[in-house]
Amino acid sequence: MAKEKKTKDKVFELLESRNMNFISGQEIADTLYITRAGIWKAVKALREEGFNIEAVNNRGYRLVLDKDSLSTAGVENFLSEYKENGLQIEVFKEVTSTNDKAREFELSGCGDCVVISDYQSAGRGRRGRSFFSPKGMGLYISFLLHPDMDISRVTPVTCMAAVATARAIEKVTGKNPSIKWVNDLYLEDKKICGILTEGFTSIEDGSLSYIVVGIGINLYMPPSGFPEDIKKTAGVVFGEGQTEANIRNRLSASLIHEFMTLYRNNETKDYYEEYKSRLNLIGSYVKILSPDKQATGDYAYVTGIDKDFHLCVEYEDKSVGVLSTGEVSVVKY
Ligand code: BTN
Repeated sequence: MAKEKKTKDKVFELLESRNMNFISGQEIADTLYITRAGIWKAVKALREEGFNIEAVNNRGYRLVLDKDSLSTAGVENFLSEYKENGLQIEVFKEVTSTNDKAREFELSGCGDCVVISDYQSAGRGRRGRSFFSPKGMGLYISFLLHPDMDISRVTPVTCMAAVATARAIEKVTGKNPSIKWVNDLYLEDKKICGILTEGFTSIEDGSLSYIVVGIGINLYMPPSGFPEDIKKTAGVVFGEGQTEANIRNRLSASLIHEFMTLYRNNETKDYYEEYKSRLNLIGSYVKILSPDKQATGDYAYVTGIDKDFHLCVEYEDKSVGVLSTGEVSVVKY
């Protein structure tokens, strides 16, 4: 069922549609069927969220936007183009981690929802690493979902998210990311996106209760650059001066649409071929980091990817095998 929009979001949408021009209080009241006091309350709430709204006598109100601000109304506005209206979307200025915020929503009894933030003070990556998430420079987004599936199917959902993200980036920016197994996105040999999927099981029967799929995309170069430890490997989608108004709202909407379309259908065939064609490891050698796999040699030649998203390899002794994410990490050689 479609969620009823809050008055403040309707006011935001109307102001935003005027492209930074003034709109009179009378027109807002007549369009949205609200009182002057209602408008003022909405403006106050939006200002508290950090939006810059000017109010001038005899002219009305005007939303002054940063070149690329993120907002619930902005994302929902683009989402409506895809007729994707039923999902709860929550946009924050700051959170510790959108994955943690999504978990809080779960604990408060929320159904499926999407959490987006302009900044993460404690963004998390895989294997206990942190994920650098500076303000206004990226898109940090998590999906809280309640799939009816076995825990073993969580890896394919992560691969599904990688394809959805690559598609959204391509559609909105025209750039064509590749995938580094299992689920990092690359542009020109630099990592521009990482995905952290977390599954939570029931203690009673060990079944999957819910998952949180968190996606972090580096869009712009942070003013003081990337931290030392990722300086050589991290990249951004947009080079200097390459930006467009509203790109983060648009990208969020496109990503939600692409991901939810694949997720609802939940058919590996919808994304497997594209995953494979974007994979940048096929035809290269990888160094094997897992001690038990090293019994067959330090390096393996990647021949393909199977339907469970395991890497198909040929070892130095010419025997063949598959590498699964839990067992090994690979580095391109
Ligand atoms: C990785 O590259 O190791 C995975 C990075 C995942 C980062 C995203 S940003 C949105 C969500 N919130 C988090 O704290 N992490 C994920």
